[in-house]
Amino acid sequence: MFASTVKPIAGDKPAQYRRLLDQARVLFEGESDSLANAANLAALLYHGLPDLNWAGFYFRRGNDLVLGPFQGLPACVRIPLGRGVCGSAAQSGQVLSVPDVNAYPGHIACDAHSRSEIVIPLERGGEVIGVLDLDSPKLARFDADDETGLAAFAALWLEMSRTEL
Ligand code: SME
Repeated sequence: MFASTVKPIAGDKPAQYRRLLDQARVLFEGESDSLANAANLAALLYHGLPDLNWAGFYFRRGNDLVLGPFQGLPACVRIPLGRGVCGSAAQSGQVLSVPDVNAYPGHIACDAHSRSEIVIPLERGGEVIGVLDLDSPKLARFDADDETGLAAFAALWLEMSRTEL
């Protein structure tokens, strides 16, 4: 599968996620390299889901999150745990969906076009090792279907990706 074949998919949202998840399984097949799988997943989500302006990873480095593979505009490199949407989600270990980033105290603006954001913590062995972060130029872009769909991608990435980050 090549990038040119990744297009937003028609159908209701759960069906879109199921088909995109099938594509991710194909991309990850037989591959355990964590960085390569993260890079491909960022590209798949960015190009496969509508209304995104950023999709990517931050990985845990001590008490900070550090930028990983992503698609979108250049982003801030280092986020302390507990700061911003990403650092808060990483600290709590809970999915954090922010319908209006301008109303979220401490939001870290990397792209002025971002209006809503969702962050999925990546947990292994009881520890948050990173986060999957998606930004949208639309207010309230992410709902419960997105939360469920993206959690499945995070689980698949964790299952397949086994090399040290
Ligand atoms: N907005 C995030 C920072 C990362 S960017 O969105 C890519 C935050 O508040 O943590």
